[in-house]
Order: sequence, then C-alpha cells, then structure tokens
Amino acid sequence: MNLNHVNLADYPLREPHSQAYKSLVEEWRHRLVETGLINLDAFLTVEGVETFRKEVYDRRPDAFHSVHGAQAYFDNYPGELPKDVLGSDTFCLGHHNLQQSAMDQLFRWKPLRGFIAALTGNNEVFLHEDPTNALVIQLYEPGCWTGWHFDRANFTTIVNLGEPDGGGLFECAPDIRTEEDPNYAEVEEVLLNRSDRVQRYEMKAGSLTLMLGRYSLHRVTRIEEGADRISLVLKYETQPGVSISTADRRLIYGPLVPDGPDIAGKIATN
Ligand SMILES: [Fe+2]
Repeated sequence: MNLNHVNLADYPLREPHSQAYKSLVEEWRHRLVETGLINLDAFLTVEGVETFRKEVYDRRPDAFHSVHGAQAYFDNYPGELPKDVLGSDTFCLGHHNLQQSAMDQLFRWKPLRGFIAALTGNNEVFLHEDPTNALVIQLYEPGCWTGWHFDRANFTTIVNLGEPDGGGLFECAPDIRTEEDPNYAEVEEVLLNRSDRVQRYEMKAGSLTLMLGRYSLHRVTRIEEGADRISLVLKYETQPGVSISTADRRLIYGPLVPDGPDIAGKIATN
C-alpha cells in the first residue's frame, strides 16, 4: 500500500486508538445513521487521484460496455414504470482487470477495512469474493448513466475519481424502503420526479462516499459531452465468501468474465 495515496493527515487510519480517529468515526458514523449517506472530501491525496485515474485509462481498452435494465426490486413493481428511469449504460472494469493496481491495494488495506467497519457499526468487514464484482470501476463517458436502483449490499463504499462538468449528478432518496416494506408509493414519486426526498450531490475527485444503498434509491444522471465521471466501487461484506451468480456476472460485466464461485446461499441477494 502506497501511503502517499491517502490523506492520512485528515484521516489517520493507521492510528485507530488515537482520539482524533475516535472522534472522526463518531462524527461520521452518527451522520451516516442520520442521513444514509456520507461524503468524506479529500480522502485521497492529489497523487492518489492522479495515480488511480492513470490506472483506469491504461485499462480503458479492457472495459466492458455494460448496458442493461435489470433491477431486482422492480421485478414485482405493482404500477407502470415510467420510461427511461431504470437501466444502466456505463463502461466497467472488474476486479479481474484491476489486479496488481494501487486501487486493489487500497481495497485490501486493513486500516481502510477497519475504518469502514467502524463507520458502519460492524466489528469487522470482509472482502466481497467475486472475481469480478469485488472491486469495480464505473467509467461514465458522454451519454452514460445509471438509472434508479437499490444496491444488494447493505452499504456501499465509493471513491470518486472525477468531477463531471456536465451531468453525472448523484441523486439519492435515503432510507426510502425497509426489508419488510417496499414503499412503492414513495418510490413512484421519485421515479416520476416529484419527490422532495431526493438529494443531489456533486462529488469531488478524491472523496469517499459511504451509502446505505440497500434502502436508499439512487441514480447517476446522464453525462454530457466533454465530461467524464469515474467511480471506484469497493465491495465489503459483513460475512466472508459472498459473490454474485454467474448469470449476473455475465450480464453486468460481459460474457468473457472469469468463472467464479456460484454457491447458493452465499450469493448476494436482493
Ligand atoms: Fe448503486
């Protein structure tokens, strides 16, 4: 792990027993519970952002143009879905494309895992073990977007590697459903663009976003000409051995992705 990539002055991740660390965790953990989403600015250093962006563009030829409309929550949706609000059109690099990278080192770095565990109220978090889905770059070029969806995992960790000057806004309706209550009525208000629960964020390069995405409806708006947006998504789990199914892996990341475990019961579900 190259320690020059993380802003250790503001985020002392290697000193979990220090008062500064404890205060930081307490403040942000509280905000995460309150709002469902926190955004830690300047988590990466400028050098970190530049290194990660170069790694992404070096691998750009390997990116899979992922276009799909699958979102499990909406399979049972009772009403008529408005057009063009569900789906996804991005370029993806999966964990198999990101081996031996500084981004992978950050993903595995124990102090970061400890920090994410503390922020999410877990004793420990584990690496998602899917060979493709564990660590993902989502590259948004002009015309790319991700429609409204919920994540499968309880929480999602994203490092933002760009600041789009046109489009590419992150919009989120936090805590809009529970495991028991799909709350279709309020979700419909969001889909029809008339909900006052939706918050809009312009993420800064180098920031770290932590979101309770399983219950927060969210999307990324379409990118305009001349802009780009890059998200590094780090998948951590509260139990070891979690992966996605072969069918989902091929749908999202392309037919040529490596095979991985496909064991019922350990597969992330929605
Ligand atoms: Fe998501």
